[in-house]
Amino acid sequence: MKRSVLWVTIAGAVLMTTMAASGATAKPGSTKKSSFGKTPDGEAVDLYTLTNKNGVEAEITTYGGSVVSLKVPDRNGKLGDVVLGFDSVEGYETNTSYIGALIGRYGNRIGHALFKLDGKTYTLAKNNGENTLHGGTKGFNKAVWAAKEAPAKDGQALELTYLSKDGEEGFPGNLHVRVIYTLEDSNALKIEYSATTDKDTVLNLTNHSYFNLAGPGSGDILGHMLMINAAKFTPVDLGLIPTGELRDVAGTPFDFRKATEIGSRINSDDEQIKLGGGYDHNFVLNRKPGEPISLAARVVEPKTKRVLEVWTTEPGVQFYTGNFLDGTLTGKGGISYTKRSAFCLETQHFPDSPNKPEFPSTELKPGQRYHTTTIYKFSTEK
Ligand code: GLA
Repeated sequence: MKRSVLWVTIAGAVLMTTMAASGATAKPGSTKKSSFGKTPDGEAVDLYTLTNKNGVEAEITTYGGSVVSLKVPDRNGKLGDVVLGFDSVEGYETNTSYIGALIGRYGNRIGHALFKLDGKTYTLAKNNGENTLHGGTKGFNKAVWAAKEAPAKDGQALELTYLSKDGEEGFPGNLHVRVIYTLEDSNALKIEYSATTDKDTVLNLTNHSYFNLAGPGSGDILGHMLMINAAKFTPVDLGLIPTGELRDVAGTPFDFRKATEIGSRINSDDEQIKLGGGYDHNFVLNRKPGEPISLAARVVEPKTKRVLEVWTTEPGVQFYTGNFLDGTLTGKGGISYTKRSAFCLETQHFPDSPNKPEFPSTELKPGQRYHTTTIYKFSTEK
């Protein structure tokens, strides 16, 4: 009872501050558009600020459809940013870490930058050793997406669309992609991906947000407690391409079935940990039959007690511990992004699926509609 009274007061205070600042009429949430700069070609890039009724805020830019900031409460109700990002469009153009971006046409790796579909071999860019990573040289993370506010029942929504033309980065088919970000009043960021094609193609869409639940600049993420709802993972070779095996996590550093500190086994003498330089692996998510969307992972930060739950319709999640961050990138507010200062939970189909018929299929045919949903839910613990 006491708590709900407090909430009313806080919500009222937030509302009053917003009204005082903008002179706007009272409303439960808002979406605002501002300029985020221009690409070198002179294309205008926008920044949308979505605020829910609790004052939780998500900034999303049309450049790469990237999540720029995400401010959620800690155990004391204090809002703080929990993702890496940049102050302007230049940071997004030059970084090679896919920070916060939408990833396509194919999230993660395709081995030897080749795949066969309907008996035809398609050749892609080798932008990661011998392999293709995250869509190639100019993936969806480097596109300027069209944006408009979308209706949402309990929150604020932004619709982003992009036409990936037939042959772009070597992939067949004109692919119409739509991503809807909804900042829900329950303090969740929902991402709905949909797409249609006019030729048989492959696709695997995800978002590459880097999280640090204590806030960017607060040090490494090794003390975060992580649960991944997976009994198996897909071991990789030297180029981080899955071997095709689905390996039990039991008895390995990949067993996160019970909440475990991210750092507790990250330097262990394990072949797979060594290949990844830490965690950089796809987990095979457990799913109850008939369950439309399942809990993939749950993370708790011990000091702020912020909790992130990841729910998805996808069969896999790439758990990546920012092993390639080396301090050379400078993000928002002049913070340098050092090794393992953030983690990613990229929901996805398994890497290299176009070359692994035993993995769930990533093919899309004309007349079919690709549709996946991932929800990042935020809360706190006592
Ligand atoms: C994914 C990959 C990593 C790395 C990052 C971006 O998570 O699996 O190997 O390429 O993207 O740096």
